[in-house]
Amino acid sequence: MQLVGFHQARRPRLSPGAKLRRELSLPRPGGVMVSLVGAALVFGGALALAPEVGGPLPADPTPGTTAVQPSSAPLPTTVPAAPPSAPVTAASPAPSPIPGALAASGGSATPLPPPAAVTGAAPGSALQQLFATGTAAPKDKALLDVGNPASPLVLVNKRNPLQPLNYVPTDLVAPELGGGNGAEVLLRSEAAAAVERMIAAAAAENVHITVKSSYRSYAKQLELYNGYVADKGVQAADSTSARAGFSEHQTGLALDIGDADAGPDCDFNSCFAGTAAGQWVAAHAADHGFVVRYQPGGETVTGYLPEPWHLRYLGAAVAQDMRARGIDSYERFAGLPGAPDYK
Ligand code: DAL
Ligand code: ZN
Repeated sequence: MQLVGFHQARRPRLSPGAKLRRELSLPRPGGVMVSLVGAALVFGGALALAPEVGGPLPADPTPGTTAVQPSSAPLPTTVPAAPPSAPVTAASPAPSPIPGALAASGGSATPLPPPAAVTGAAPGSALQQLFATGTAAPKDKALLDVGNPASPLVLVNKRNPLQPLNYVPTDLVAPELGGGNGAEVLLRSEAAAAVERMIAAAAAENVHITVKSSYRSYAKQLELYNGYVADKGVQAADSTSARAGFSEHQTGLALDIGDADAGPDCDFNSCFAGTAAGQWVAAHAADHGFVVRYQPGGETVTGYLPEPWHLRYLGAAVAQDMRARGIDSYERFAGLPGAPDYK
């Protein structure tokens, strides 16, 4: 992997005849280059190509800061703002400790460390159970928090925005993906390494995955969402696009993929599920820590129509456990309520 300049993706052209879900990523003219050791990133302002809908876009926050504080004024959207402070459900108490083992001699109980609890996930949830085994805990226990935007376990949906809304990851890098992936790709370092492995594994089976979209800033998500609203209205936009501050893409842990052999016709289209890449990731993405986040029939839980091309990095332990248990949404895995809308 290498640190790179950051480029904003281009707002899709949404003429009446255009496909609804094109999110082509192209280098932003004059994109700001970065070369700071330590993954510091310089973020450019909003793209000037597309007409703004709903007023000026906010500048991206200061680079390199994980906890960018929102300004006192609400961040702009073109629709009534969803409550920016809607939190992930209140922290749950830690599960009951694993019973202490009896010492080999003397018979007294030897206390064991308490099991890891995932803050914000429901007690007894599959997510809590997984981490209570102690085998799947991340190195940094502070990251066992579904409300922490810096956690690979962060849960983002219409009821659980990023906090702050204009959060920027600090460790965005460009994965080395080889030819056929022309779009600028930025992901958090752990997800970038995983996607490199996943795409190589697929290629070894003659399946050629391309990356169509990856990290998107608050400003870019606002621009995309506003474009969808202008093109097809709020209700339709909300079924396919997250509002700014509510997108997994802003975590740096999500990406949209295509199939190089199938060509662009099935990019951001339901027919992607039938491509070789779509079928491969449905079966194997979990081996590399990714889940297909928006599954058929899950709209009332996830809030979105199926997106067989949208992968979310959760780490191999979680992704494989979800697959093994047949749980098709991260909300259900965490034992949290569905998020069908912004109310
Ligand atoms: N298309 C997904 C829901 C997003 O905009 O994040
Ligand atoms: Zn996506």
